[in-house]
Amino acid sequence: MTSRRQVLTRTAAILGAASTGLVPSARAQNAKIRIGMMFPYTGTFAQLGLACDNGFRMALEEKGNKLGGREIEYFKVDDESEPAKGVENANKLVQRDKVDAIIGTVHSGVQMGIHKVARETGVLSIIPNAGLHAATRALCAPNVFRTSFTNSQPTLALGKVMMEKGHKKAVWITWKYAAGDEAGEGFKEGYLAAGGTIVKELGLPFPNVEFQALLTEIASIKPDAVACFFSGGGASKFIRDYAAAGLAGKIPLYGSGFLTEGLLDDELAPSAQGIMTTLHYSASLATKRNDAFRLAYAKRFKMQPDVYAVQGYDAGQLLLQGAAAVNGDLTNKKALYTAMENAVIDSPRGKWTMSKAHNPVQDMYLRVVKGKENVVLGVAAKALSDSGAGCKLG
Ligand code: PHB
Repeated sequence: MTSRRQVLTRTAAILGAASTGLVPSARAQNAKIRIGMMFPYTGTFAQLGLACDNGFRMALEEKGNKLGGREIEYFKVDDESEPAKGVENANKLVQRDKVDAIIGTVHSGVQMGIHKVARETGVLSIIPNAGLHAATRALCAPNVFRTSFTNSQPTLALGKVMMEKGHKKAVWITWKYAAGDEAGEGFKEGYLAAGGTIVKELGLPFPNVEFQALLTEIASIKPDAVACFFSGGGASKFIRDYAAAGLAGKIPLYGSGFLTEGLLDDELAPSAQGIMTTLHYSASLATKRNDAFRLAYAKRFKMQPDVYAVQGYDAGQLLLQGAAAVNGDLTNKKALYTAMENAVIDSPRGKWTMSKAHNPVQDMYLRVVKGKENVVLGVAAKALSDSGAGCKLG
């Protein structure tokens, strides 16, 4: 039986809650915001996943680890860059851990799994790397935002640069999966428009690094230049094998900037000299914002940040801005998405805004490897926006 005293206490509690505006549904707003981190923490993209994760956490730490006044709690899944487990892993975060947002991932194939779950459940999805076109083109969604790039964005400006250097015939080489194929689309569009000819397209399955036969083929074709998409551990191996095959310096090597990003250590740098790439970031960008970010990151994590850290950091900045606009009430979706759509991100890469399809509108820098740096030579494309083809949002 309920005693009179208990009834009175409960009534007082309810009245008290009502007078402070804390009606039961709003009281849930005092619970911690649950953030799902889905990244490759192992495998060829492990370093990339860790950098995204670090960057995101750093952005939140800078603001007292709170989102719109609410505490946060992290949940973590290693997606191993394994597309076959993408849906299952995203569901672990959504169904088991009941996260309010998924931050992830690196690999385009795995992102497809997250994207499916995001579209089905409506969970907020912020993509700090994977560039698959569909996420911000035909399958764009109100609850999906990207702080990185589309796969064809970094390579779009590459062809023009190569033609300016007189490289009229090129070989394209990549891993055969969404990221490589779509980077190839961007390269082709820009290079053909500038008057170039792609004499051969070569590929191997992700994450294979048996480049020897393909390098022999390149040597026999003798193109004016080679352009490629590789990344992480595989990119490092490609650069070393390219040099070991005697091609470095003979047939100039170009790529989207992932090729040399975060990889230029004492061991790799000698093989990478002169490689030219296009990307939306470089460690060597001489701005106060970039300097401050790099110093803080190096202090916090005892390692140097790269483009992946920047993209993770910007994912944090984006969520901070969104959550602030709704005072931490992430269920207020309309206001949350509007704030995120209108966000101006003061990024270490330079300020950027969201396209209508929820992908960054950003500058692409031309970079060349000198010593252990991707030295910025200039802006290869100003305020570059992906086409967002097929995206119908608001
Ligand atoms: C991707 O799979 O979308 C991807 C992976 C690594 C990169 C860039 C894109 O560096």
